[in-house]
Amino acid sequence: MHATPRWAHRGYAGRYPENTLVAFVAGAEVGAEGIECDVRLTKDGQFVILHDECVDRTTNGHGRVADLSLEEIQDLDAGAWFHDAFVGTRIPTLETLVDYIAQYPRRIALNLEWKVPVPDDALMRRAFDVICRAGIFEQVLHSSFHEEILRAIRRVIPNTRVALLTEPGREAHEVIQAAKAIGAVAIHPDFRQVTPRFVRRAHQSGLRVHPYTVDDAKMMAWMEECGVDAIITNWPLEHWSEESGP
Ligand code: G3P
Ligand code: CA
Repeated sequence: MHATPRWAHRGYAGRYPENTLVAFVAGAEVGAEGIECDVRLTKDGQFVILHDECVDRTTNGHGRVADLSLEEIQDLDAGAWFHDAFVGTRIPTLETLVDYIAQYPRRIALNLEWKVPVPDDALMRRAFDVICRAGIFEQVLHSSFHEEILRAIRRVIPNTRVALLTEPGREAHEVIQAAKAIGAVAIHPDFRQVTPRFVRRAHQSGLRVHPYTVDDAKMMAWMEECGVDAIITNWPLEHWSEESGP
C-alpha cells in the first residue's frame, strides 16, 4: 500500500493495453485506489472507453471513433498492438467498466475523463443513469480539460463531482479560480505544475490535487512530498524503470 493513493491511468497501462477491461482489472487487483479512463462517443451515441480521437494507434482499425458505430468499434482488436498475449481484447463500453467497478469488493474511485462534449442533455442523462443504476454515483469523479464540458455536466446533474484538468503553463491562482468557478472538487494538473505551494493553495480553496501522469520513482516521491491527494500513474503497483514493459 502506498502512502498516497494511486489511480491507474487508462488502467494499469504500463503493463496492459490501455483503456481495456484487462487493464482496469489489473489496476484494481494490484490495489489501485482509483481508475482513470477516457470517454468518447460513437457515431450511434454510445459511450466507449478510448483515449485517441481515432482508433488507429490502439486497435487494428482505422478512423474516428465518432464515425464508427458501437458494433464496428466492438469488432476491433484493442490488445494486439500492445502484446500478442492480449489478442482479442475489446474496447469496453462505459457500462461494462461501471458494472465492473460497482461489483468490485473494495471501493474504487472511477475518474471518467470526458474527451468530447456530449451533444445533448438526454444523452448525458443516459450516462448518469448507467452510473446511478450501478450505485456508484459518489465514487465517480468527472474530469476534463474543457471547462465547458464540466459546466455542461454540472448543469445537467448539479451535484456531480468534477475535476479540472490543466496543461502546464497555467498559473496556480488562475487554475484554482477556474476550478472554483465550475464548482470543481479537485484539480488534475500536469505534474510539472505541482509544487508544495500549489497544493497548499488548492487545499486552502477546498480543492484536492490529483496530478497526472507520474511514472518515475523520483517524481512520485516528490508528488508525495508536495502533499498531493492521489497520483495518476501508468504504474499503480511499482514505478516505471528501464526494464519495464508488457
Ligand atoms: O486524466 C489525466 C490524463 O489522462 C490526461 O491526459 O492525454 O493522458 O488523457 P491524457
Ligand atoms: Ca485521460
